[in-house]
Amino acid sequence: MNDYNIETFERHIVDQQHKKHPDAQGDFSWLLSGIVLACKIIGEEVRRLGLSDSRGTAGSDNVHGEEQQKLDVFANQVLMECLGSRGNVGLLASEEDEDPIVVLENPDQGEYIVVFDPLDGSSNIDVNVSVGTIFSVFRRSRANGDSFDEEVLQCGHQQLAAGYVLYGSSTMMVYTIGQGVHGFTLDPTIGTFVLTHPNLEIPERGTIYSVNESYADGFPPYCRRFLHWVKSGEDDMLYRSRYIGSLVADFHRTLFKGGIFLYPPTSFFPQGKLRLVYEANPIAFLAEQAGGVATNGDERILQLQPAALHERVPLFVGSSFEMNKLHAFIQRPLKV
Ligand code: AHG
Ligand code: MN
Ligand code: MN
Repeated sequence: MNDYNIETFERHIVDQQHKKHPDAQGDFSWLLSGIVLACKIIGEEVRRLGLSDSRGTAGSDNVHGEEQQKLDVFANQVLMECLGSRGNVGLLASEEDEDPIVVLENPDQGEYIVVFDPLDGSSNIDVNVSVGTIFSVFRRSRANGDSFDEEVLQCGHQQLAAGYVLYGSSTMMVYTIGQGVHGFTLDPTIGTFVLTHPNLEIPERGTIYSVNESYADGFPPYCRRFLHWVKSGEDDMLYRSRYIGSLVADFHRTLFKGGIFLYPPTSFFPQGKLRLVYEANPIAFLAEQAGGVATNGDERILQLQPAALHERVPLFVGSSFEMNKLHAFIQRPLKV
């Protein structure tokens, strides 16, 4: 007799919600199930890429002037539709759209805001390397006179939920609502995300550093000093380098194995390449909930006040040991 008493994502989020808000009406869970549905659809398209006409470029650029992959556009559309129909989402903001989207007839309606990177790691799509979807949920905060643009510019510490889906050798959903980090694996036989990694914690110290060293000449001096240390074998620790080029995959490995991921300022991206609102913030929320640290080299990512939806930020994230070591080279103790 098989045991079908499985802990699904839907059951987990209802349980977590009831712990946090005993009088919860299921509104928030309903929203998150919209993200789950969208990511199942996106995951299927990723899996079939070579067989479908979703391969290649869309022949358009996004707001950053980056050439869009067809899958970027597809993933964006799926998330817009799955979340737009939930009824309780008022604003959506995406890497792929210049401005936030007002979802409901009455623009003041809809309790929640969802920001997302619909497909992270686009450069890896056509070569069959893991990509992901990153999401973050806020409550609307229509302070007097707040424009919709300002509403989505909330500090990372105000996130209600954050997570990602990694379309890798298996499809995994990793999320937090501020009560720890939990990993689910998609069981394709029943089309359901099943709890496989409860209470994920980043190891206090790792043996992997992850950075695109081709830009090293343009890194700030503190970064170059840190990278010299990490390769020095000091403390009898030999670090290995791993860099996939998909933030979700590089962070997922850091979450499981420890170590540090760095996207520093470079000569091409003086503020770093990664976007604060829909890449660094959700990753930072997950990192801190898993016992790790995430900064921009100066302060906690989650403390930063976004000034624009697509603003970029340097991102250093990982185990406390390596992050403290990095900040020792910056000579600014971690203000966490
Ligand atoms: P996206 O595909 O959403 O634009 O994100 C790509 C990002 C991130 O996933 C990754 O960490 C970084 O780009 C890699 O940048 P480099 O190719 O410059 O290393
Ligand atoms: Mn991205
Ligand atoms: Mn993207």
